[in-house]
Amino acid sequence: MDKTHLVDEITGHRRMRRNRKADWTRRMVQENRLTVDDLIWPIFIVPGTGIVDPIAAMPGVSRMSIDKAVEAVKEAADLGIPAIATFPDIEMELRDETGSNSLVADNLINKATAAIKKAVPNIGVITDVALDPFTSHGHDGILRDGEIVNDETVDQVVRAAVMQADAGADIIAPSEMMDGRIGAIRRGLDASGHQNVGIMSYATKFSSGFYGPYREAINTSGLLKGDKNSYYISPANGTEALRDAALDVEEGADMLMVKPGIAYLDICWRIKEAFGLPVFAYQVSGEYTQIKAAAMNGWIDGERIMMETLLCFKRAGCDGILTYFAVDVARKLAKGG
Ligand code: PBG
Repeated sequence: MDKTHLVDEITGHRRMRRNRKADWTRRMVQENRLTVDDLIWPIFIVPGTGIVDPIAAMPGVSRMSIDKAVEAVKEAADLGIPAIATFPDIEMELRDETGSNSLVADNLINKATAAIKKAVPNIGVITDVALDPFTSHGHDGILRDGEIVNDETVDQVVRAAVMQADAGADIIAPSEMMDGRIGAIRRGLDASGHQNVGIMSYATKFSSGFYGPYREAINTSGLLKGDKNSYYISPANGTEALRDAALDVEEGADMLMVKPGIAYLDICWRIKEAFGLPVFAYQVSGEYTQIKAAAMNGWIDGERIMMETLLCFKRAGCDGILTYFAVDVARKLAKGG
């Protein structure tokens, strides 16, 4: 047959659309898939009982008292979600300069862990050791003369990590970005008999505007003095982020996290390629809220973009995603996607 179309000169016999022509071919060639095993659900805990308190800046997300959290986590486990990550909204009276409540064995976060592990033993509980929920200034570490002091903060974070492990935490996820914390936490856990407690390092945590709604959720936004630029990584720096992650790997991290997520997919990819450790992205509060807000206005298809962004993390090399959408996604997947 004569070549009658100019495009034939270029494509020859190569046509990408043959594999895209039908649903069955598309399914055959699909490279990445999102499953319930990819989901980690972050939840917010408040003191009291019977409380489900919606967070204005995060439509669809609520702070829950421990009893309500236990119910919600049971549902998450029934849906097959492998793990949750807990964040406490600590009473203002308990917050101080050094975040001393982080060292109270039965503080809100440790009580929540114990209750959840007792009621739902088969779900993984991941706890953060950053001090920001506990400090009166909203910083992740101890503030002295205008400086977030590194080594003293690490000492405290190690003690808090051991208490969290004592309460039943399965994975410690330190997010405060102090130098040397991973090695110190590993030694602290091992010395106290917690060899099986893992460490998911917030290896590359960027100084980001995407955390805004989270700070409302745990009531730190009004408290925060200054910014976190002296300990979080600049959004401009990818190679520095890799060096930071390399230290965490050397110090014994079991898993690495990239935070925020969607604007940092290059980092996800580079970290996965460089180290081969399990890598998790945190689709943070601002990312969630952007999608929700636009969807609520009818400007985008929220469900579609929820699924698309999560799949993109998989394509970028992530082994899983911390996402406030976890339960919505798990329900959708259970119905067949
Ligand atoms: C701080 C912390 C942050 C988040 C979790 N732990 C960031 C911050 O307040 O600086 C953000 C999570 C989110 O935005 O969803 N240790």
